[in-house]
Amino acid sequence: NTLFIIIIHITFVAYKKLLRMIITGKYPNLRLRRNRNSDWSRRLVRENTLSVNDLILPIFLIEGKNKKQSIKSMPEVYRYSIDRLSEVVDKAVSNKIPMVALFPYTSSKLKNINGTESLNEDNLVCRAIQYIKKKYKNSIGIMCDVALDPYTSHGHDGLLHKGKILNDETVEILVKQSLLQAQMGCDVISPSDMMDGRIGEIRKNLDKNKFKNVQILSYAVKFASSFYGPFRNAVGSNSLLKGDKKTYQMDYSNNLESLREVALDIKEGADMVMVKPGMPYLDIIRTVKDNFKIPVLAYQVSGEYSLICNGIINGIIDKTTIIEILTGFKRAGANAVVTYFANKIAKDLK
Ligand code: PBG
Repeated sequence: NTLFIIIIHITFVAYKKLLRMIITGKYPNLRLRRNRNSDWSRRLVRENTLSVNDLILPIFLIEGKNKKQSIKSMPEVYRYSIDRLSEVVDKAVSNKIPMVALFPYTSSKLKNINGTESLNEDNLVCRAIQYIKKKYKNSIGIMCDVALDPYTSHGHDGLLHKGKILNDETVEILVKQSLLQAQMGCDVISPSDMMDGRIGEIRKNLDKNKFKNVQILSYAVKFASSFYGPFRNAVGSNSLLKGDKKTYQMDYSNNLESLREVALDIKEGADMVMVKPGMPYLDIIRTVKDNFKIPVLAYQVSGEYSLICNGIINGIIDKTTIIEILTGFKRAGANAVVTYFANKIAKDLK
């Protein structure tokens, strides 16, 4: 009996070994370098590719006329007044970039404790949406951030009361802000505030107001990150920000918590979800991708952008790094990436 078991075992081990040799081969008859020998062959066996369809371009807006204002913290990124917006949107459209993301720099005299400018139907974002929709029709999508930080005098994404960010009261305003953006022609409503329950409330209100086809891209997994620094400078909220955003944005030590955030937002009606920041969080993109059948987007944020730019400007790395990094997002499972490099690399991708 024991002998029988031993024979079976030996046969099994031998069989497995044979099978492994057939499937994988072995040096010297197996050489993985063969497939890498020539460019055509590398292209043939390539597993992931980056195309312009994977890119979303963020654009900063500023009040006034004939302005293209450089941003100290972000090389070659500008704030555009609406009359010069076509410079950058024309490029995005001709590059076939599918969508732009609009971010307003709000002058400090329009900011207050409750961020009421967010609900002004004549605010900068509202006028920019209307301008782009009228001029470019449906040749490019528009996404808009839903959050109060460009409008509050304390720089937080929600209402601040006695040192705390109020959740439900903030959601009420976000619901109105979303509807306003949809009425102006925004295609993709993108709540980036990390309040609980906002996706469901926003969806309900959009549907009630006949905006059933307006999409929601939830910044479901947004970490409290130091990589947002240059962006806060770009929208003028950094010097104002009191404290940090750790009571609403996620703790960067966590991975599994992202599954709960995404599960809830899907249940509440999100059409797509965002992971943000990007490069230090590729594991999160993979986790979300493996667990849900929903488009997962990634945001290569301002701090990542500026770091790479500084590396290139100082000759530490070269321009090819940009596409290498963005392809890494695809490999991790991202369907698309929000990146300040979108217009700059589009031609290299054709
Ligand atoms: C704010 C918002 C932030 C970014 C996009 N929307 C900053 C923050 O949460 O403080 C960051 C984008 C970037 O750094 O490029 N709701």
